[in-house]
Amino acid sequence: MVTHQLTGTRRLEGKVAVVTGAGSGATGVGTGQAISTLFAREGANVLLVDRDAARAADTLRQIESEGGVASVFTADVTKSAECKAMAEAAVARYGGLHVLVNNVGILGKGTVVTVDEDEWDQVMTVNLKSMVLTSKHAVPVMAAAGGGSIINISSISALRSIGITGTVPYTVSKGGAMTLTTSMAVQHGRQGVRVNCIAPGFLYTPMVAGTMTPEWREARRNASPLGTEGTAWDVAWACVYLASDEARWVTGAVLPVDGGTLCTTALSAFHDMR
Ligand SMILES: NC(=O)c1ccc[n+]([C@@H]2O[C@H](COP(=O)([O-])OP(=O)(O)OC[C@H]3O[C@@H](n4cnc5c(N)ncnc54)[C@H](O)[C@@H]3O)[C@@H](O)[C@H]2O)c1
Repeated sequence: MVTHQLTGTRRLEGKVAVVTGAGSGATGVGTGQAISTLFAREGANVLLVDRDAARAADTLRQIESEGGVASVFTADVTKSAECKAMAEAAVARYGGLHVLVNNVGILGKGTVVTVDEDEWDQVMTVNLKSMVLTSKHAVPVMAAAGGGSIINISSISALRSIGITGTVPYTVSKGGAMTLTTSMAVQHGRQGVRVNCIAPGFLYTPMVAGTMTPEWREARRNASPLGTEGTAWDVAWACVYLASDEARWVTGAVLPVDGGTLCTTALSAFHDMR
């Protein structure tokens, strides 16, 4: 089974989608790139938002080579004016904005004792404040057209801490993404705007690939009950569902895409399941 094959089912036909962090690092496929590619295959017009134009252009080449419709919008999603321009560009280029995926994320390390204060501020701004700013400008456009779907990319590390050296800025920002999701779902439900959250497990993507030894990659794979490695495509398929009208009665949900990692404990991972 290859999850990223062409499907031709057109589950997002007629929708305009904005994906932030739609580019990808040098090694492999990132979640933003996979989400954008599947959205285009499913018939959406996709605005590829990234502060790195060259990375987004790679995603665009992939989509255009398959006959999909997309374009690059270069923006830093930590800047409100650029998020406003992003929402306006979706409407100007494609006539609306129905789906927003808040996918931008960076790592941040340390415990409360060791954390660097500037790093804390930067990670909270890039990972969490950006979701507020993009949504601030996207929700009114969606609401005016009768509704839409927003998907916030969090992480299971918000619910299960990884390691004693700590990733406090990262995990707290991802916990914030979950809380933001439930708040937004309540506040914008009557405007027809659904807001959901995906909590990926230990994926092998460009964000982490450069920092990983083969042993650590194997340990991450082994951490899930399925014992298989997660990829960006696994997250992207979940996004297709939440973006589509198939999920019309699903809002405020946190969906783990983690091979079952949240169901297990360190004990089972390191003993029974080997
Ligand atoms: N890889 C994993 O194991 C894993 C696990 C859980 C969650 N996630 C989450 O998935 C998301 C994507 O991860 P990835 O590995 O695909 O990332 P990636 O590093 O491959 O891609 C992220 C993209 O975001 C862009 N970007 C960064 N800051 C930006 C900003 N301020 N404005 C606009 N664009 C910006 C980068 O240029 C890059 O192209 C993140 O939110 C991450 O936290 C990843």
